[in-house]
Amino acid sequence: MNSHISPEAKLISKEADVTPTVLAAMSRGDDPRLKQIMDAMVRHLHAFLLEARPTEAEFEYALRWITAVGQATNEAHNETVLAADVLGASTLIDLINNDGMQGETLSALLGPFYRGGAPKCVNGDCIARSDTPGSQLYFTGRVTDPAGRPVEGATLDVWQASPVGLYENQDETQDDFNLRGRFTTDGDGNFHFVSVKPAGYPVPTDGPVGDLLRAQKRTPMRPAHIHFIVSAPGYKTLVTQIFSDSHEALVNDVVFGAKQQIVGKFFRHDSPDPEFPGAEAPFYSCNYHFKLVEGQSVLPLPPISGKKVAHHG
Ligand code: BEZ
Ligand code: FE
Repeated sequence: MNSHISPEAKLISKEADVTPTVLAAMSRGDDPRLKQIMDAMVRHLHAFLLEARPTEAEFEYALRWITAVGQATNEAHNETVLAADVLGASTLIDLINNDGMQGETLSALLGPFYRGGAPKCVNGDCIARSDTPGSQLYFTGRVTDPAGRPVEGATLDVWQASPVGLYENQDETQDDFNLRGRFTTDGDGNFHFVSVKPAGYPVPTDGPVGDLLRAQKRTPMRPAHIHFIVSAPGYKTLVTQIFSDSHEALVNDVVFGAKQQIVGKFFRHDSPDPEFPGAEAPFYSCNYHFKLVEGQSVLPLPPISGKKVAHHG
């Protein structure tokens, strides 16, 4: 006899019996947070099903879509993260956990293209490691606390897409870790690097997420941006993006990541400028001041670990 089933437990015979029976079945675990999350998940999932009333064919389609999301995920591509992003879940999670209320720079979703272990760079290095089209960009910045006290030794893990619209992990013509690098702030909290001006790009649309975007007549475009993870011992890690694009592109971000506070000013220089020795006009510059608050320094888990490998023949 199953000792978990009380003698008075009834069998399910109608729609309204399902939710309480499932909630009761899930109530025995020892982890209170798991119970709280799964309770809410099942209540909302069942409420959604009772409202949308999917047909069996629609349910099969949904399960096939979820399966395809997993099957499209590999070490160089994360369709699961992409799905969470286009559904607005990643931006909601971001805002639930990072509200900027202590004066810290606003965060933005990590996205599916963060790779750990980017090359360590010294200030002034260029992160375009292979032939990369686009205008030169001189990015300068500072990391401080909200009161303006410099954070020395902060790490800035930087990554961006090539102006052809692909991250290096998606593109076998780019060198490993092209447009990725890790910089460290000096005693005044300053850092600087050279790159190319970012361009807007479409998220990958060759998988189940692309099918959904097409069915919903949605743009796959992201506004131009550069990703930053700013971390330092004793400070809450900041995961963000600095945007450069037009208002129209910003409001149509397919993953809802763009926020006004993290739009950078990208200046075009049409003649040489002694502030940027070696820069050949025309070039762009951007300066951004990142603010960190005290807290735990934890790095996010990279959604991918490698680069697409070429299959010839
Ligand atoms: C990105 O900015 O790299 C990104 C974010 C969400 C989905 C796809 C790409
Ligand atoms: Fe991106």
